[in-house]
Amino acid sequence: MKIVVSLGGSVFGDNSDRIKEFGRVLDTISEKNQLFVVVGGGRLAREYISKARELGASETFCDYIGIAATRMNAMLLISAMKNAAKKVPVDFLDAEELSKLNKAVVMGGTFPGHTTDATAALLAEFIKADLFVNATNIDGVYSDDPRRNKDAVKFDRLSPSQLVEIVAKGSMRAGANVVIDLLAAKIIERSKIKTYVILGEPENLLRALYGEVVGTIIE
Ligand code: UTP
Repeated sequence: MKIVVSLGGSVFGDNSDRIKEFGRVLDTISEKNQLFVVVGGGRLAREYISKARELGASETFCDYIGIAATRMNAMLLISAMKNAAKKVPVDFLDAEELSKLNKAVVMGGTFPGHTTDATAALLAEFIKADLFVNATNIDGVYSDDPRRNKDAVKFDRLSPSQLVEIVAKGSMRAGANVVIDLLAAKIIERSKIKTYVILGEPENLLRALYGEVVGTIIE
């Protein structure tokens, strides 16, 4: 299978034991699958972006700083993997070329204006992935933010258009912690990409790929 995994920055963290564990699991997955991983920027991106803002940088320039942080994190993950190409591709054409080496491809962001969720969804669309896994800091898609609303219910299964509807509603609220960004949801909808939204723990990645439902399936 061709699989794209979006590993959110907050999920990836900056603890080397955890990164090692992700590396081990992703190496295992790449033994039998053509694997692409898109890594988020996490604390590194947040810290650098907020400093650049204080210094007067434009939002687009801040995005470029965020992208640089995601690529630094991608290099950390590559360091923790045995079967990943050493080069971090800067766009999708580059990523596809690199995958021909029969190695896992690990990258960060591409262009300003969105997060790595959208980068990963676009990559999944471009390479015609069989599966897109969004490993995030919540265990699936809920009707509302479960950290604010205790009546929020988790969906085991959604259609792509239901996902767009839920994400669009969530992003209207200031400070809402959206499970996947709207652009990513729209890409999933337009290309009907089979997607799992799961809690980003290393063993969960394996469980999801073995067909155990551990989050929300979108198809
Ligand atoms: P992230 O994808 O880590 O954003 O990219 P995030 O919202 O902080 O993600 P989580 O919450 O950790 O999952 C970090 C920043 O890099 C820029 C954006 O500014 C983003 O906020 N970026 C990233 C881009 O501009 N383009 C990309 O393709 C990727």
